[in-house]
Amino acid sequence: MQIDPASKGFLAVFITVIVGTIAFFIASIFLDFGSNLVVQEIKFENSNFHVDIKRLESDKRYVIQVFNDKEAIAQEIYFGNDFGDKTVQVEAIDNGYKIFTTSSNEMFLTIDKDEKNFASLKVKRRVESKEKVLKDCLPLSNDEKVNWYGGPEQKNQKYPIQHFRFTDYAYITKELDSAGIMERYWFSSRKFFILIDYETPLFIDQNEHQICFTAKKELPYYTHNNVYEFNYKIGVSTSMKELHVSVINKYLGKPKGGMPDERLIRYPIWNTWVEFGREINESTVEVFAQTIVDHGYTHSLIDIDDFWEDCYGSGIVNTTNFGNLKALTSKLKSQGFIVGMWTHPFINKNCQPYYDEAVANNFLVKSHNGSTETSWWNSGTNEAAHFDFANPAALSFYRRRLEAIQRDFGIDVFKFDAGETSWYPTDPKFERDLDISPSQITRAFVEMAADFGNKLEIRVGWGTQNLHVLVRMLDFDSRWTADNGLKSLIPTLFQFNFNGYVFVLPDMIGGNQYGADVITKELFIRWLQASTFMPSLQFSHAPWHFHEDTIAITKKFIKLHADHADYILERFQLAIDKGEPVNVPVWWIDEDDYDAQTIDDQYLLGDKILVAPVIMDNATSRRIYIPSGKWQDGNSVTVYEGKMWIEDYPAPLDTLPYFIRIEEDEKQ
Ligand SMILES: *[C@@H]1O[C@H](CO)[C@@H](O)[C@H](O)[C@H]1NC(C)=O
Ligand SMILES: *[C@@H]1O[C@H](CO)[C@@H](O)[C@H](O)[C@H]1NC(C)=O
Ligand SMILES: *[C@@H]1O[C@H](CO)[C@@H](O)[C@H](O)[C@H]1NC(C)=O
Ligand SMILES: *[C@@H]1O[C@H](CO)[C@@H](O)[C@H](O)[C@H]1NC(C)=O
Repeated sequence: MQIDPASKGFLAVFITVIVGTIAFFIASIFLDFGSNLVVQEIKFENSNFHVDIKRLESDKRYVIQVFNDKEAIAQEIYFGNDFGDKTVQVEAIDNGYKIFTTSSNEMFLTIDKDEKNFASLKVKRRVESKEKVLKDCLPLSNDEKVNWYGGPEQKNQKYPIQHFRFTDYAYITKELDSAGIMERYWFSSRKFFILIDYETPLFIDQNEHQICFTAKKELPYYTHNNVYEFNYKIGVSTSMKELHVSVINKYLGKPKGGMPDERLIRYPIWNTWVEFGREINESTVEVFAQTIVDHGYTHSLIDIDDFWEDCYGSGIVNTTNFGNLKALTSKLKSQGFIVGMWTHPFINKNCQPYYDEAVANNFLVKSHNGSTETSWWNSGTNEAAHFDFANPAALSFYRRRLEAIQRDFGIDVFKFDAGETSWYPTDPKFERDLDISPSQITRAFVEMAADFGNKLEIRVGWGTQNLHVLVRMLDFDSRWTADNGLKSLIPTLFQFNFNGYVFVLPDMIGGNQYGADVITKELFIRWLQASTFMPSLQFSHAPWHFHEDTIAITKKFIKLHADHADYILERFQLAIDKGEPVNVPVWWIDEDDYDAQTIDDQYLLGDKILVAPVIMDNATSRRIYIPSGKWQDGNSVTVYEGKMWIEDYPAPLDTLPYFIRIEEDEKQ
């Protein structure tokens, strides 16, 4: 080890090597790490947190150790190929240190936030070689069990997320695995977080022992230059709640410009998709709406989903199926509906002359070889192209086309489908913002969509937590299982909230009934119950397909949802004001309780309503964890005092177990 003599002069940065610290070094060397070498310690001024950079005697690797306020290791980060077993040098810089071997192999660690309960560092590396691969690894637990949160949206959603497994997984939005919301943020019950920059060409590997973050110049990222950065922030807090809310406020972002329209929160959205698929026309929509009204269901938005165009991507209404769309929308509005129409960012090759015009105008995403060919679920292989929202001319063309539909046909708003990066041609070529390719168009698409107001839905996000729109979970299958079925609904709700997307639109009640799936009465009702205290309800498979009692049960839960809409909106406001999540896991009440940390089938609305839906096939009762505090049973006069388990709470098909927290000052 060499320490640059210049480091004596760095005092601006609150990082001191004093006699006491040296004594501590010696103590910690003896206590924890045999003859491991402390290369540098980074002290925070306003807390007891500190960070050590060490070299392990065992395998000569370098490790960053982040210590909490009790001198325990909150997390270790082993870095990578770039330092290997070479001896590093340390140089003091503003607010931190440069660790390096040669001038082309250096890492900067600087203090970013230094607060009483929250401290963070920036870790930065810039690489100027395409061949160089950087890989930093975080052990997921040591001796004690650690739970992890955040991470990606996945079809087979895990919770807590140490249960995921990944191999060389490109960390951007993609259709595969339903990866619509993919913030690069992980945090743990040791009150540690890591947040990786959007500019880093990131891949992850995860097994039972560790999660590794790799940065490299490979597809699907931009590969046509030699430069990339591997930058992230790490930090620690005294509480997991405070950690998360701090990350939202300081880094990840929170909603800024308002919230979704309150009608979409109070009353259900009705969508034609599962009922009619692509076979829609004026009369099917009219009959669907009339049936909703005749049955006495409340409603907000009605979505005309899928094939209203004369060909996919024309943006022109098919007059065979919708000869008098304006009259239809007038009627729907007179029935109290907001009228929405599905839209997508594609154009099919056989959709002429629109496709050729879009090619001529340069409106489509091209591959580096000039090809615009791609595919989606409504095209044959390589029979479609994708609008280039990174191109301002294409963006404004697309926007004007939607505005014309609003104007000409009285459509209020759109359901914006797709938006994941995987729909572009492989190796897309953009003119600008190369270091955030290809994800920049996901962001551009979502921002364009959000200009259409606060009554719409999108299903992707990329640093767009600031927007006022509902974000839908990707299409669920109509099954009970965790494999994209009902059991993955609550874990996905947590993942959205912890990624900072709190205006969650759960997918359609009962799922999409794709393939051989069947939405049974039981699945439908349990799915509705599970969604009741989530922000919005969306029906598509109609409740009246089942026996009369289903209609009554459905209305009961629509009403229960509406009865709590004010509280949902209150929590939305709190998300805007303070960066608090809306729906959280049970540990939000008891964060150091290991049981609470792992519960994946109960959730909270705010900190007041505890929901424990039955999500198991044929079950008529369930085990429920009551966290600390006094909780009034929503179905009886019983008050429970946590922490406790209710072993066998009876929940026949018409019953949703839920509990309302009794506030301290309400007790007298
Ligand atoms: C509308 O679609 C339905 C269902 O596909 C079909 O039965 C009906 O004939 C169609 N109506 C018109 C006017 O095309
Ligand atoms: C409109 O829809 C009808 C019925 O699905 C289809 O036959 C026709 O090709 C579509 N396009 C136009 C331009 O009418
Ligand atoms: C262009 O590149 C894409 C993928 O990068 C490939 O699938 C396609 O075949 C190529 N097309 C031509 C015309 O070379
Ligand atoms: C639930 O009951 C149905 C019908 O009796 C049966 O087919 C299914 O296997 C049961 N599921 C479970 C998880 O027991």
